[in-house]
Amino acid sequence: MQEFVLYSRTGQTEGNFKSLINAGRLDIVYQCILMALFKSGAHRRDVVFHAILGGAPKPPVHIAISGNDLRDARIDERSWEGILRNVLNGKEHEGITLDRKPLQQLILEKNESRCKIFVLNKKGDVLESHTLSENNVFVLGDHIGLPKKDEKFILRYGARLSLGKEKYLAASCIDIINYRLDLTVNP
Ligand SMILES: C[S@@+](CC[C@H](N)C(=O)[O-])C[C@H]1O[C@@H](n2cnc3c(N)ncnc32)[C@H](O)[C@@H]1O
Repeated sequence: MQEFVLYSRTGQTEGNFKSLINAGRLDIVYQCILMALFKSGAHRRDVVFHAILGGAPKPPVHIAISGNDLRDARIDERSWEGILRNVLNGKEHEGITLDRKPLQQLILEKNESRCKIFVLNKKGDVLESHTLSENNVFVLGDHIGLPKKDEKFILRYGARLSLGKEKYLAASCIDIINYRLDLTVNP
């Protein structure tokens, strides 16, 4: 299983928004969902995408989307705006769960289930120097970046991984990693 964890510092934690971009940049969460879970014409069944939302009114909210279980989801932003609004309003959607788990607790659980944990950071070791296996967790920040204290905590259990000197969009990072996994782990 490959897992991506996006920490969204400002992502709104209630579904009463007009648009994703005005909901504390939930548009970034949507872009990451797209890159994590979708190929052309298919879901990535071996991927789970997590978003930890740290915005108003009641953080944190942890949304987990399982590529294996996800149903009734198209790839366009309008559809995901509806899905995210519904789940944040307490409605159910197959393949999506919502709870109040903080980032650090999620990482502890992943460490206990023996996943290899990586924090995405430009200053880490390059991707090619790591051996990726079948159970990885990749943690990344949004437009603001990961809080330093959380990064420090996660690094007790994992390593920094760099995709090079350019600063990429969070969604691009996920796409690059999935591409690399497709070439090396699931050829
Ligand atoms: C748009 S960037 C964040 C920008 C933020 N202002 C910062 O400096 O961290 C979003 C996230 O993508 C990841 N990222 C971006 N470029 C990267 C790179 N070259 N290598 C590894 N991770 C990268 C980091 O996890 C970052 O928090």
